[in-house]
Amino acid sequence: MFYYYGRKKQVAKRYPRPDYDTIIEPFAGAASYAMHDSNWRKTVIIVEKDNKVAGIWRWLIESATAAEILKMPDLKVGEKSSEFIHIVHAATKMAFKYKTIKVTPVMERNWEISKRVMAANIHKVKHWKLIEGNYSEAPDVEATWFIDPPYKAQAGEGYAHGSGAMDYHALASWALNRKGQLICCEGSEGDYLPFRPLLDLAGVAGKRNKELIYHRSGSKQSEPCLFDHEFTPQRWVS
Ligand SMILES: C[S@@+](CC[C@H](N)C(=O)[O-])C[C@H]1O[C@@H](n2cnc3c(N)ncnc32)[C@H](O)[C@@H]1O
Repeated sequence: MFYYYGRKKQVAKRYPRPDYDTIIEPFAGAASYAMHDSNWRKTVIIVEKDNKVAGIWRWLIESATAAEILKMPDLKVGEKSSEFIHIVHAATKMAFKYKTIKVTPVMERNWEISKRVMAANIHKVKHWKLIEGNYSEAPDVEATWFIDPPYKAQAGEGYAHGSGAMDYHALASWALNRKGQLICCEGSEGDYLPFRPLLDLAGVAGKRNKELIYHRSGSKQSEPCLFDHEFTPQRWVS
């Protein structure tokens, strides 16, 4: 919905489709899985601990209109902004630490694109429910759970609520106790669930971007098991 460091927009199609009529993203960020394809039409519940990120969602869900979004001023390279919704468009994990940021060409362009994307898609989120708080505050219901926390390897990464604050064993235990379909995301250091390779993508500066997944189908399973069929790992080098 908006530019966000670590968002799953480009890879959302690689994850299993939801088996349930309710999708819960307990680590919302930009909620790319719930936005993907027709997933947004379902009952969607997002949970986000960062009050600034939750604030963007509250505005999008409760009050923003397409006309209002399109009327928001463009950013100009070199000017300064202290608006968090601008700052997330800087396309760097460090952006979360800044209170004020000088607009870069990347930021100017990302914001221009995001305004158009948000205006065109704002109708999709009006029925969504936002919970500002910890992931564990999500309702205990049978659903498709898309669990995409700050990755374990990202020590010192940018989120205000990042990997340093996470108890991954507690997360694993909580996740396994969810009812329904479970889709858990991690990077190459993910070791607290029986993760398997999903993707191995080219990142910046020659780095590889490895995505792991743990998928447990729910009783409403409508598709073949993830690793028996179409979601075979791609270009994975262990
Ligand atoms: C990897 S991002 C999610 C990206 C998202 N899937 C997307 O496509 O944009 C993780 C998010 O979880 C949030 N977060 C971190 N700790 C949390 C917690 N304990 N409970 C809920 N949200 C948390 C972070 O602020 C961040 O927005």
